[in-house]
This record gives sequence, C-alpha cells and structure tokens, in this order.
Amino acid sequence: MLVLGIESSCDETSAALVKDGHEVINSVVHTQIELHREFNGVVPEIASRDHLSKIIPVIDEAMQGTDPATLDAIAVANGPGLVGALLVGLSTAKALSMAWKKPLVPVNHVEAHLYAPHLVHDIGFPYIGLVASGGHTVIFECLSHSQRRVVGSTIDDAVGEAFDKTAKILGLGYPGGPAIDKASFSGNPSAFELPLGLADKGQDRYRFSYSGLKTAVSYRMKDRELTPQTVADMAASFQKSAIDLLFRKVLNAARDLEIRTIVIAGGVAANSYLRSRAALLSASGYSIYTAPLEYCGDNAAMVAGRGTVDFKAGVRGGAHTEVFSRLPFIIKGKRS
Ligand code: KG4
Ligand code: ZN
Repeated sequence: MLVLGIESSCDETSAALVKDGHEVINSVVHTQIELHREFNGVVPEIASRDHLSKIIPVIDEAMQGTDPATLDAIAVANGPGLVGALLVGLSTAKALSMAWKKPLVPVNHVEAHLYAPHLVHDIGFPYIGLVASGGHTVIFECLSHSQRRVVGSTIDDAVGEAFDKTAKILGLGYPGGPAIDKASFSGNPSAFELPLGLADKGQDRYRFSYSGLKTAVSYRMKDRELTPQTVADMAASFQKSAIDLLFRKVLNAARDLEIRTIVIAGGVAANSYLRSRAALLSASGYSIYTAPLEYCGDNAAMVAGRGTVDFKAGVRGGAHTEVFSRLPFIIKGKRS
C-alpha cells in the first residue's frame, strides 16, 4: 500500500511517500526556520505564504519517479495547527485527490507524531504515548491505533513552547529547543533550583504546567549579567527540570495503569537529555521507543504512516474536509 503524506501545519512544508505504513521511500522536508528567525518565533502569515510557494515543488520532489496511478491514498494533516498554514496542505491534497482520483485521508497531526516511532519499530500495545512538541504536551493511554484516551496534558504552555520562551529570555534565539540543548552541554544542571511543576495528586499526577518554570527562569535572570556560563548553567538547569517533569508524569501514568511500554514523540523528543534518560529507563525494565531523530519534528512521513492506518480503518475525507486549530479532547475507546 502506497500513501503520499502532506504536512503544512506550522513552519515545515513536507511531503513523503510511505509503503505499507513503515517503509519511507521518499521524505522531503522544507523548513522555514530562517524566515522566522528575525522575529524570534513563527509568524503565521509568513508561514502560510511560504507553504504556498513550496508545497508543489516539495510534493514534486517526493513523487519523483512515482506514477500517481500507483498511489492508494493521499494523507494530509488537517489539524491541529495554524489555520492558514494547514489550508495550504489541505487544499493541495484535495486538488490532487480529485485530479488523480485517489482517496483523501485527513490525519490528526498529534496522532501522526505518535505514529513516528512506528515507522521504524514494531511496537506492541498497550503503551503510554507522550507527544511533546511546540504546541502539545499530552500523555495518552494507547490500546490500539484506534483506541486511545488522553490521560493528561498541559494546563498552560507546551514543553516545546517553554523551551522556546526560555531561550528567548536567555538570548539564545529561535528555535529555542535545539539552542538550549546545545548550550546545556557546557552548563551545570544543578546550578539553579527551579519549580517542580504540579504536585503528584489526583489528576495532576498526569498533568503538566510549564508556565511557572519559564517565569522562574525569567525572575532568576532579572538584573543578572547573561555571561556565557550563566546562560549555559540556566539552560542546563531548565532542560533538566523540563524533561524530568515529562518523565515523572509519564512514569506516574505507566505505574498507575500498569503499562511498561512507553512511546515518546514530537519535536522535544529530539532533546539529547531526554534521549539519554529514555535509554537509562530502558535498562530498568521499561520498553521505551523514541521517534527517530529525523521524524521528531514536523514531517510528512509520520502523516503518511498514520494515514495508512486511518485509511485501512475506513477514514475518508473529501471536498467537505475542514482544517481545525486545536486538539479535540475526544476519548477514543475504553480499556476492555
Ligand atoms: O513537533 P514540532 O516540530 O512542532 C509542533 O508540532 O509543535 O516541535 C517543535 C518544538 C519546538 O518548540 C522546538 O523548540 C522543540 O520542538 N525542539 C526541541 C529540540 N528540538 C526541537 N526541544 C528541546 N530539545 C531539542 N533538541
Ligand atoms: Zn508537530
């Protein structure tokens, strides 16, 4: 089964061809980082316009050497994300679906992130899934690809957003996650004591709060000279607090639900401290699967992979398919 995936929900224009839900034949990702850098963050209008000029060349490159007649479906991320940006991918996918007479499969971008580790690993259910990105921080209990419920999520900022805001405070620029990751290598993670997030009580055992952490960084740095060592120390301290918080809540969920398989995806899954903690956890009896580095950030391979699963389950879109901007809080299925 051959599926073309299309992704344009934020600041990456991407297209990919995936066979049978795991064999990535072509993956093309055009990033807009340079365009947004001078603004220290993503400017939605600039994002939409750039998607518009890049979407056809990116799809062309992914389709090179492939006859559209051999496609089984076209999968496209239709939300959550920036509405103007999503519209570019969705409109293009609709046009191709009509021109090539291929079914359209709308894909949830967050579900697509969670699929990324499945592109390279054979992962058994049930598992605890964590999506940690710039827009979302969500823990799922996954019983199958179609049966999943939200166990907890952030009550304010997403973890990636906290990385981006903290980088701004420290003068490290955009995108903040990779910059903090890099600066942390020469910093002391115990240099600053930072808040621990919500106490592990009731539903807060699985909930995140990141705005307090970012504010604490801001207070600590006020009137302080940002020497390279201070920046590195704060970057390392923040990174440790932010990532430790992810693991603490995920492990609460894993223990309470008695599930020993954990899947971690999203842009923040590229973080080197997160990956080393995941490796340590693997050695202590958990099966941990992190998204491959090239599929942590936004990409269309994960959309095509997730689209394959959805297509097989009968999901179909069409001219009526709309974009949506926020994660719908749907509880899909229960544990039997
Ligand atoms: O998944 P993604 O590409 O887009 C969204 O769906 O939001 O995630 C982007 C986020 C940004 O906040 C970025 O700073 C963060 O992922 N990120 C990282 C790292 N690489 C990207 N955060 C921490 N460490 C990294 N190495
Ligand atoms: Zn994303």
